[in-house]
Amino acid sequence: MRLILLGPPGAGKGTQAQRIVEKHGLPQLSTGDMLRAAILAETEVGKRVKAVLDSGKLVSDDIVIAIVSERIDQPDCANGFILDGFPRTLVQADATEAMLAAKGIDLSVVIELRVNDKELVRRVSGRYSCASCGSVYHDTDHKPGVEGVCDKCGSTHFKRRPDDNAETMTQRLEVYYKETSPLIGYYYAKGKLKSVDGMAEMDVVTSQIEAILADL
Ligand code: AP5
Repeated sequence: MRLILLGPPGAGKGTQAQRIVEKHGLPQLSTGDMLRAAILAETEVGKRVKAVLDSGKLVSDDIVIAIVSERIDQPDCANGFILDGFPRTLVQADATEAMLAAKGIDLSVVIELRVNDKELVRRVSGRYSCASCGSVYHDTDHKPGVEGVCDKCGSTHFKRRPDDNAETMTQRLEVYYKETSPLIGYYYAKGKLKSVDGMAEMDVVTSQIEAILADL
């Protein structure tokens, strides 16, 4: 199964991708996570993209296409993968087609998560994650079972993303509507698009996604 999770910042792509990983054992290929890891490791790419991520703009197509292309060649992607946050432009979408065609494989489905802007800002403003394992939480909607202790790994250290603030979020949304939302039409025309109500509670969103995956 090869699927794309498509949606604006804060729509729940990472949250739902994690659940698909747990249930279906597919690797999650999040370009945002890969870029943040490069920044943390201070690689050449990391140094080049840090300011771009902090500003809420998009990293150049060449860089992300190269990262994904290398990643999907890894053995753990042989039986499928979840693309989370990629493709994000029409150039990236065409590159994805070409990458998959070169391997003789096809996309299974593109799942669009629909959430309104007010809710996106609310979600992103309250988001934090475990500094150790990356599990994502929210100040009001999704707290750890024991306050201050990660449910998954027990760490007591948490962090917030530098781009999760109202000002940068305005920029990220603008970029989404301009550069990424055209992909909805792109994949609809290819008969690959399925949309879910991302405004629903997390478990309800998961059920909608599972119903789509069960139909493939
Ligand atoms: P990236 O890391 O991909 O960020 P994003 O797309 O902006 O998405 P987010 O991670 O913010 O949100 P999400 O949809 O995963 O939501 P989450 O599940 O965390 O990209 C960051 C940057 O990297 C970009 O701005 C760009 O600079 C660069 N980049 C990345 N990919 C690129 C590419 N392909 N090309 C160029 N540049 C690229 O949920 C959000 C919050 O809401 C959480 O707190 C969660 O607990 C909560 N929540 C989730 N679901 C629900 C629900 N149903 N109800 C209530 N709360 C919920």
